[in-house]
Amino acid sequence: AAEARLRSILETVPDAMIIIDERGRIESLSSTAEGLFGYKLEEVAGKNVSMFMPSPHREQHDSYLERYLKTGERHIIGIGRIVVGQRRDGTTFPMHLTIGELRTGEKHYFTGFIRDLTDQQLTESRLKDLQ
Ligand code: HEM
Repeated sequence: AAEARLRSILETVPDAMIIIDERGRIESLSSTAEGLFGYKLEEVAGKNVSMFMPSPHREQHDSYLERYLKTGERHIIGIGRIVVGQRRDGTTFPMHLTIGELRTGEKHYFTGFIRDLTDQQLTESRLKDLQ
């Protein structure tokens, strides 16, 4: 029941949001996240969230999750960070990532909120060119 409620939230939030389980497996994508990365949830459900990022983080992301679960040390959770995302066609883009934690019953999820910074960076570089 909690999962159905989660799904309906994700279909309506305007933000790009991704929910993963504690091993990094994709549980849910908001419609905006589907558009941003170019995948439908059905195609990526159960796959590793690392598919949305380029190397070297792609190979290392599992170890980031393990480290956090072991130590509780937060490097992005509650802080946020600008990282690089990778779309279905292989192109990359700057994004601001914030991560939250969600516990429903005995399940432990992470929620990622993503803001695409492509337009912002384009504007900044155009302004620079003007100087
Ligand atoms: C940790 C990169 C997406 C969940 C990290 C770290 C990096 C990273 C570099 C380790 C930070 C450090 O040790 O200093 C990325 C990139 C992403 C991405 C490039 C691009 C798509 C996501 C998403 C989620 C997520 C969408 C959740 C839905 C986590 C968690 C941690 C983590 C739970 C460990 C907790 C923490 O360090 O605070 N990620 N990540 N990541 N990431 Fe990601």
